[in-house]
Amino acid sequence: MTSANAHSIRVRAASGDYAVVCERGLLARAGTQIAALGKFSSVHVLTSPKVWRAVGRTVKRGLSKIPRLQVHTFPDREAAKNLTTVEAIARELVRAGADRHSLLIAVGGGVVGDVAGFVAASYLRGVSLVQVPTTVVAQVDSAVGGKTGVNLPEGKNLIGAFYPPRLVLVDPDALKSLPEREFRGGLAEVIKYGVIADAKLFAYLEEQMEEILARGREPLEHIIRRAIGIKAELVSKDERESGLREILNYGHTFAHALESSTKYRRYQHGEAVAWGMMCAALLGHEVIQTPADDVARIIALVRRIGPLPAWPAVPATKLFAAMRADKKTKFGKVRFVLSPRLGQARSYDGVANERAVCVLRFGPQFILRPKVTVELENCHA
Ligand SMILES: NC(=O)c1ccc[n+]([C@@H]2O[C@H](COP(=O)([O-])OP(=O)(O)OC[C@H]3O[C@@H](n4cnc5c(N)ncnc54)[C@H](O)[C@@H]3O)[C@@H](O)[C@H]2O)c1
Ligand SMILES: [Zn+2]
Repeated sequence: MTSANAHSIRVRAASGDYAVVCERGLLARAGTQIAALGKFSSVHVLTSPKVWRAVGRTVKRGLSKIPRLQVHTFPDREAAKNLTTVEAIARELVRAGADRHSLLIAVGGGVVGDVAGFVAASYLRGVSLVQVPTTVVAQVDSAVGGKTGVNLPEGKNLIGAFYPPRLVLVDPDALKSLPEREFRGGLAEVIKYGVIADAKLFAYLEEQMEEILARGREPLEHIIRRAIGIKAELVSKDERESGLREILNYGHTFAHALESSTKYRRYQHGEAVAWGMMCAALLGHEVIQTPADDVARIIALVRRIGPLPAWPAVPATKLFAAMRADKKTKFGKVRFVLSPRLGQARSYDGVANERAVCVLRFGPQFILRPKVTVELENCHA
């Protein structure tokens, strides 16, 4: 990863490097950045009605100099992240005359980015794509790294492709209209970067959390840039998730179990990740002796982005079964990303099942104590 200027981070990808530019007010200047990519036969914005209501006017102004611009909207509910939506968009693109030299611009959260990205990967076997993420999750996570895809009735993100964009434009000002719950949930993913890769970012989040929750422009821009920097570095080194990139799944094994066993209705993804990271911190203490102080700090910081929807009334063994069904298991073994100390993480596959079940059974009680403590003394009873 190298920086072309202070606000642009380069990501390496086998099919070509790309820049992630992060600046306040960037949406209004998007046209200049996109024009620098070259000439396109036509340009198509793919977005959702809700996102377009929030940022459409600004984006349109930013793209006013682009000829033959067309805007196509589609639903961005998680339930509509499927092949039916992909087909509808592709057919609309055909009718709109999109050819192999067209450009697609995805404007929206992770759902829009994943769906539009998959359309770009597969339409005429691949057309150029620019990502313009408008949620915290999309800005710090999904728009960077080239993973695209949709859900099947059998599970999330089961159909997809690695398809890096040509450019990612991140405007922290786009977050102003984001609903509070989406905003707070997204911060869980930012905390994740602190835990797995940057103790300094973690300490900054501890210091500035109040300002960040009030969407203070400077701290927000700082943490988004830092998070993107970490993601960019990890995916540049491991584009296809063969090893290193796995640490981005910190908290996610627990989170996916919570999400799937509540049918994706109770938690927004970031909220499940928030619970998942607190569980992963406890498991780290149990299994690899993560210092109690680090665990307490992780739980305390994550709790500040709450309130989270309550832990589900699902038996620990059932939650554990949901973990085993996760597509990230290798040969049926559950792998956990654990943090030996703040700012570091790696994946472990030798964790005894009982340890994880124990965290699922007793973890929530410890996490919710007024004063954070980490001893899971009941576990061995
Ligand atoms: N590809 C990846 O690497 C990757 C990584 C993480 C998550 N994801 C995927 O991302 C999706 C979740 O993304 P998300 O959290 O961004 O949620 P989302 O795309 O569902 O957006 C959340 C809500 O916010 C609205 N919204 C978006 N931007 C807005 C704005 N600026 N103002 C007002 N409202 C706005 C949307 O319309 C939606 O209702 C999941 O499907 C997940 O699988 C993918
Ligand atoms: Zn996530």
